[in-house]
Amino acid sequence: MASVTSLSDSVQQRLASALSATLPEAAGADPLLRRSDRADFQANGILALAKKAKANPRELAARVVSQVATGDVIADVEVSGPGFLNVTVADRAITGNLAARYADDTGRLGVPFAADPGTTVIDYAQPNVAKEMHVGHLRSAVIGDSVVQLLEFTGESVVRRHHIGDWGTQFGMLIQYLDEHPHELDHKDAQVTGEEAMSNLDRLYKAARRLFDSDEEFKTRARRRVVDLQAGDEHTLAMWQRFVDESKIYFFSVFEKLDMEIRDADIVGESGYNDMLAETCRLLEEKGVAVRSEGALCVFFDDVKGPDGKPVPLIVQKSDGGYGYAATDLSAIRDRVFNLKADTLLYVVDARQSLHFKMVFETARRAGWLNEDVKALQLAFGTVLGKDGKPFKTREGETVRLVDLLDEAIERASAVVREKAQDLSEEEIAERGAQVGIGAVKYADLSTSANRDYKFDLDQMVSLNGDTSVYLQYAYARIRSILRKAGEAHPVAHPELALTDAERALGLHADAFAETVAEAAAEYAPHKLTAYLYQLASLYTSFYDKCPVLKAESPEQVENRLFLCDVTARTLHRGMALLGIRTPEKL
Ligand code: ARG
Repeated sequence: MASVTSLSDSVQQRLASALSATLPEAAGADPLLRRSDRADFQANGILALAKKAKANPRELAARVVSQVATGDVIADVEVSGPGFLNVTVADRAITGNLAARYADDTGRLGVPFAADPGTTVIDYAQPNVAKEMHVGHLRSAVIGDSVVQLLEFTGESVVRRHHIGDWGTQFGMLIQYLDEHPHELDHKDAQVTGEEAMSNLDRLYKAARRLFDSDEEFKTRARRRVVDLQAGDEHTLAMWQRFVDESKIYFFSVFEKLDMEIRDADIVGESGYNDMLAETCRLLEEKGVAVRSEGALCVFFDDVKGPDGKPVPLIVQKSDGGYGYAATDLSAIRDRVFNLKADTLLYVVDARQSLHFKMVFETARRAGWLNEDVKALQLAFGTVLGKDGKPFKTREGETVRLVDLLDEAIERASAVVREKAQDLSEEEIAERGAQVGIGAVKYADLSTSANRDYKFDLDQMVSLNGDTSVYLQYAYARIRSILRKAGEAHPVAHPELALTDAERALGLHADAFAETVAEAAAEYAPHKLTAYLYQLASLYTSFYDKCPVLKAESPEQVENRLFLCDVTARTLHRGMALLGIRTPEKL
């Protein structure tokens, strides 16, 4: 059994049984344990229980204290304030627990799997074909990837879906334009791939859009093209396929730069649901969920109204027979629930699409596709802002290309690495520069709760001081260097040794990795993990300042401190991996 009961759980259990021994009607009640500045843990639950039992809280607390089993885990427990319990954990228990985590050879640090894992389909990293990726796509990819790692770590079955924008009116427009202007992607362009080809496609897209918006006749021809596409016309489909293939090459190059694994089989774009669209509409109409209104198939909501007070429907099928974004998403729900057997559908999508998802989910509920057993939710993220606090734009007012941004981050990070580099080769500097730069971008994104906007500030992101990934990467590299320097001395736990305050604080925090990961996964909140890791690195820094490691007073002390160092390093490494961030051995 590799999984380890965390100290907080052990303390919790002991307090809960003392509580039910004292007050039988409180059996099963939560003692409400928290980490505390005053003691190792504080339990606040007695206040409410005393109120219910019409007892004096301090008296009740004192009776509970007399029932607490002390010795192995709890060294001391006392009443404080109006009836709190302050708990001190035995040094031996701290070291012992960490030793059990250290001995887990699965690399999980004794973290248990969730009690009843399910199947989650997560929709993230969904750029659009024939368009360059921008910062919004960055957030979905970075947050989604971390949530995937967190969920899989808890034992959840995760199905990834990259719902790329590869269908709809814009492709009719694009294909028609290219047919009419074949020279605009001539043979010279056909030779280039990846970023450059994408920039050509992006240019083509913009030119096509301009014509579409200004020329009614072109608009009509483009619309006819969509019908051809959806009906499977061979020539039209071949052109469409060319756009998709070209774009995918580009997506893969960006995801590789982001150090993120995206698998082709998981890319199921809007076009993947084409064969389901008509049936989705039929089912919705049959069930009475959708109704015809001015030729379109619509779903109405009491609480969704436009500025004029008129209800704004979700349009599932347009009056010209075309299907849009909503029809695709509703079909994707059917696929995910009935074919992929998901019990949770998670959408990592910009908060500006929240109304769309609210209406789509409500429609699916009315249709019975979502219910108490299958839930859907949007993990909505905020906007990336520039240093000026306005939505991130170039000086020319255009959206910032994601690749440019990543390149700049890598360049800045490489400068930082080079400046600090002692024994690194040029090749190593380039490799670490990429790991630090991409780590910095991911960490900045993950360390604010997703629903909030955040400022994209490269200076701050690659700073060595403060809540940044570089700070954590340096902490890790420093520990690894100490372990290398230790020579003959090895990390060995000595539970019999008394711990200093700095060691206790570090040890208790390291032990809380399991709870943190469980909470971050359950709440889809990677920022809880970043906060934990930052705190871990800070506690390590104060431990390192106060407690000599290789020069400690006894060989056992040296071994035990090396052990604390290594537990910290492994926890940092695991935690960062769950964020999609590398921890280089040397920096
Ligand atoms: N491609 C869309 C965009 O760039 C995001 C897709 C989100 N997922 C979904 N199932 N609608 O905005």
